[in-house]
Amino acid sequence: MSDSAANHVDHILTEDRLFPPPKSLAEGAVIGSEAEYQKLYDQAANDPDTFWDAMGKKHLHWFEPFDQVCQWDAPDVAWFVNGKTNASYNCLDAHVLAGNGDRAAIIWEGEPGDTRTLTYSELLTEVCKAANGLRELGIEKGDVVSIYMPMTPELVIAMLACARIGAIHSVIFAGFSAESIADRNNDAQAKLVITANGLYRRGKVLPLKEVVDEALEKSTSVKHCLVLQRIADQETSMIEGRDIWWHDLVDSASADCPAVPLDSETPLFILYTSGSTGKPKGILHTTAGYNLWAKLTFQWVFDHREDDVYWCTADCGWITGHSYVVYGPLTAGATCLMYEGAPNYPAEDRFWELIEKYKVTTLYTAPTAIRAFIKWGDQHVDAHDLSSLRILGTVGEGINPEAWMWYHKKIGAERCPIVDTWWQTETGGIMMSPLPAITATKPGSCTKPLPGVIPAVIDEAGERIEDGFGGMLCIEKPWPGMLRGIWGDQERYVEQYWSKVPGMYLTGDNARRDSDGYYWIMGRIDDVINVSGHRLSTIEVESALVSHPAVCEAAVVGRPHELKGQGISAFVTVTTENPGEELRNELRMHVRKEIGALAQPDDIRFAAVLPKTRSGKIMRRLLRDIAAGRESAGDTSTLEDYTVMAKLREEDDN
Ligand code: WTA
Repeated sequence: MSDSAANHVDHILTEDRLFPPPKSLAEGAVIGSEAEYQKLYDQAANDPDTFWDAMGKKHLHWFEPFDQVCQWDAPDVAWFVNGKTNASYNCLDAHVLAGNGDRAAIIWEGEPGDTRTLTYSELLTEVCKAANGLRELGIEKGDVVSIYMPMTPELVIAMLACARIGAIHSVIFAGFSAESIADRNNDAQAKLVITANGLYRRGKVLPLKEVVDEALEKSTSVKHCLVLQRIADQETSMIEGRDIWWHDLVDSASADCPAVPLDSETPLFILYTSGSTGKPKGILHTTAGYNLWAKLTFQWVFDHREDDVYWCTADCGWITGHSYVVYGPLTAGATCLMYEGAPNYPAEDRFWELIEKYKVTTLYTAPTAIRAFIKWGDQHVDAHDLSSLRILGTVGEGINPEAWMWYHKKIGAERCPIVDTWWQTETGGIMMSPLPAITATKPGSCTKPLPGVIPAVIDEAGERIEDGFGGMLCIEKPWPGMLRGIWGDQERYVEQYWSKVPGMYLTGDNARRDSDGYYWIMGRIDDVINVSGHRLSTIEVESALVSHPAVCEAAVVGRPHELKGQGISAFVTVTTENPGEELRNELRMHVRKEIGALAQPDDIRFAAVLPKTRSGKIMRRLLRDIAAGRESAGDTSTLEDYTVMAKLREEDDN
């Protein structure tokens, strides 16, 4: 074993199956041959300025041309320096002016079954009206607008309206709690919150505006709240002077609102995500580079063709919704299906019904959803004609080979390539993925980097690791879609992403490259867990637990979970004597209230003390083993026993 391999991360799974790309896809493909991919890859790696100069000019509209492709002084980066463009223009006006205004941009279906189609022209009109509405509320370039909405066309309209006038959107997933909304509003100093009076979820109405009202009590910077009337007969409290109905403001607004020419590096949006410390961080993306990366990666990875009906099932509250519901596909002029509700309402075949009804060609979803479909049973799939499908995608977490095979056989009828896309909120768009017409796939591998992405696998000593061994996944060179910082906290940005391996972007994931040059993502190097494809910091959940008066100390770890990928296990010490089910439920509800339902622990164990090393650090590895059932410590006394044992082992190790 070489020196560099000494620090490697173990892997135990091997996967030798290889699925060649269907030959039928090569003709007319965006990237149609291995040679073409290699040429693009080599150009981008060896002469990035020439490569990106051409891509930038070809794929975006420029009100004023850029005079430098990339300014790079790690970690500071600027792309397409001094150019002026506008993401809303690239998504809308560009297509209308090219004569494609009548093409469907969004085909939308609400959970109750209501439908709406917006052509590119219609979407442009709606965005202009909303942008004028925002201006009426005093929103100007550089102002932050929080968006807390159901998956309705107005959510996309709101995002693009911000982009049109240079306001910065901060979309907050509509499952987060009032506390989480207030934290984000305050951190970003949001001036406006756009929400709806309700959200349909499995046939019930969730009163979103009530949650926002509670958040606004603690959001000092917010002046107004714009409310979409999603639910017709829902009683909604409106505070005079602060709250305005969407229809009152937008319906009567002028449809004349030229897109503002914005400097390439104008902030486009902030998106909060979990990091290894307690407080979520506002990842900042700017206009031109992000927009180009979202468009190109969309075209490459989904081999986009004009007659495609493309469906990304992600919510706009996450980065996947930003890049692959809105900016990527719309800049590429795609027709996108958008669905508001749950996959199992009114029945477990809703997705397959939608695919059959709208003749979806491209489906992009998450492994956690696939695992749920498997559990619900094949009969729901069998009842529908899925022959329109051409390409299948996954994102958000690694896909286990069983789920991959089911997706391949049952949904793809062994015809459709699966693109397992690896990327992050920070990367802006897909970084590694098979290309559907050319890449032979291996279940569980995101295969190879896209042109412009130069990965490196690095060990703890900062050295490159040879193929076959796992280590920290880094990206060596800047790419247009990369994050530009953490909102208001440049120090944390440098510390978190650029200090461990100087000069390289640290992804936070472990990975290994196999002898075919394929990458395998091996999970996080930090305390971030991935629950149903959503990133959560264990420390965030611990902080929420500790904020309950009965809790003294809490340690939260991830454990394997059949459906969610990872479940949340909490170990807590409490002030209450003989704590039981009642307190357990109370703590679950408390975390829901503090963060949101997605952070609710799957199991909570009460302990007399938490196992700690002599230096006082919580023994997380032991807790992870216990939570996973690898070591059983069902009750408090055995947890203590294990602590003693682990301490002894620690002595052995030394
Ligand atoms: C994980 C979602 C394995 C990874 C776009 C990453 C994946 C984190 C994959 C980012 C994949 C995402 N295979 N792991 N195909 N895609 N991940 O910011 O740990 O919500 O760092 O972005 O999800 O999650 P985020």
